[in-house]
Amino acid sequence: MPHRYITTPIYYVNDRPHLGHAYASIHADIMARYRRAAGDDVILLTGADEHGEKIAKAAMLANEPPAAFAARHARTFEDAWRRLAVEPDQFVRTSSPAHARVVSDCLTKLYQAGDIYLAEYEGLYSVGQERFVTDKELVDGKLPEDKDPPVPRREPNYFFRMEAHREWMRNLLEGSPDLIHPPHYRNEILKLLEEPIGDLSISRPIERLDWGIPIPWDDKHVTYVWFDALLSYVSPLGYPDQQTFTEYWPSTRHVIGKDILRTHTLFWLSMTHALGIEPYQRLHVSGHLLGADGRKMSKSLGNGVDPLEAAEIYGVDALRYTLVSEVSFGLDGIISNAVIEQRLNHNLADDLGNLAARTLAMVTKYRDGLVPAAQAYDAAEHEIIARAGELPDLVLSLVDEMKIGDAVKHVMSLVKHLNAYAARSAPWTLAKSPSLAGRLDTVLYTLLEGLYAVSNLLAPVMPAKMQELRSLLGASDSPRWEVPWGQGVTPGSVIKEQILFPKKSDAKP
Ligand code: MSP
Repeated sequence: MPHRYITTPIYYVNDRPHLGHAYASIHADIMARYRRAAGDDVILLTGADEHGEKIAKAAMLANEPPAAFAARHARTFEDAWRRLAVEPDQFVRTSSPAHARVVSDCLTKLYQAGDIYLAEYEGLYSVGQERFVTDKELVDGKLPEDKDPPVPRREPNYFFRMEAHREWMRNLLEGSPDLIHPPHYRNEILKLLEEPIGDLSISRPIERLDWGIPIPWDDKHVTYVWFDALLSYVSPLGYPDQQTFTEYWPSTRHVIGKDILRTHTLFWLSMTHALGIEPYQRLHVSGHLLGADGRKMSKSLGNGVDPLEAAEIYGVDALRYTLVSEVSFGLDGIISNAVIEQRLNHNLADDLGNLAARTLAMVTKYRDGLVPAAQAYDAAEHEIIARAGELPDLVLSLVDEMKIGDAVKHVMSLVKHLNAYAARSAPWTLAKSPSLAGRLDTVLYTLLEGLYAVSNLLAPVMPAKMQELRSLLGASDSPRWEVPWGQGVTPGSVIKEQILFPKKSDAKP
């Protein structure tokens, strides 16, 4: 079975997750579910990035030791993912001893190879991003993604010789058009690689920060957050020598937001190269979610949507559906309660919900709630059968490029087609003539089997609702992939009537 390793960013756990976090995690989860449905052996990783100044500061404000604070918030994240139907196979915590061992071993290996050295550093430090920044990156004196300007710092730091890998990275990116998706992010990094990128500060003196992993040969320093955090992609697989690592690493897909593009290219590619780890297979880079006011969603602006609240109001599946349909992965886009409500009421309730409701109502009315057997197929049915048969491969190829919104659109266009077919076939007229009973059976069966196909194709996006749909269709309750036409719903089984997507109308714009 092919292996597939998919990761979300390893989040700073200084608060509960917001919709930006949920956007990355839900995309990664959906990709994992599609690959699993297609038969791959998948590991989905998420986790908590617990060290560093940001967490230490937040813990101090909460009057709690950093370890206890981080543990509490790591649990908040785990709980949030459960409520958002994100089901990771592994949840890494950077404070775990197993991870610390891997970081320690990597540091020692690079130090012994001469790839790490001590120097005095003077520069501007962003606590928000937990890294030193260059003047060129600043807009009006601060990083665009930060609330506060960076602070001047002068201190001894250990450095990793990142610049030494620049030419290699340029060649890698030039020779691998698929390494970074969508391609405009690859171009951005290629541009950066035209000029020196410098070396990477990877440690802090403990008098400034002791909430980190000790530098093995110097107890006056702890390692810097990115060196620690990026290695949390390999430590849970048992790097360097466990079979899981060897089997899964070559298939790695990292899902991140554009705010951490540099760290996942310049930092991570040079680190893996120095350690002799092959580069990840692909980096999927998202844009930013914007609030209804068009500005980057953030807590301080108060223009955000709380993912758990939205899931409570509209249902977790409508939220997941909206996130992938509304904002093309890689671009910025607006999400508000009003947008979720529209997607729920129009795409889900009017199109899919209505198709299910009218089909189930007609089967109840005309066939006593029992799935009929199809008789002879006409051209209209053959067209539906052909479309349904093409969708699994098409959907998977789009998901592979993280174009989940496009994949969903194709499935929803089958839904629209089935609605039009229901209207054109007019089962209510067929029901009036006993001589057309066979035709009515065929139409009702085609609608039920079409809905069954849709329930499988959309299960990774809306796992609970599609399970509900399958049960209304009287079908087995676990999703299946590439079910040949005619082997989904079973003639004679009992269907149930129920509204799949109740409408909502209470969003304040
Ligand atoms: N801890 C680092 C990542 C280490 S990975 C080895 C980190 N954590 S974070 O908690 O700040 O999460 C960053 C991620 O959250 C972003 O990369 C992005 O995926 C997501 N988002 C945060 N705000 C966002 C939006 N407004 N919109 C979309 N996603 C954004 O950085």
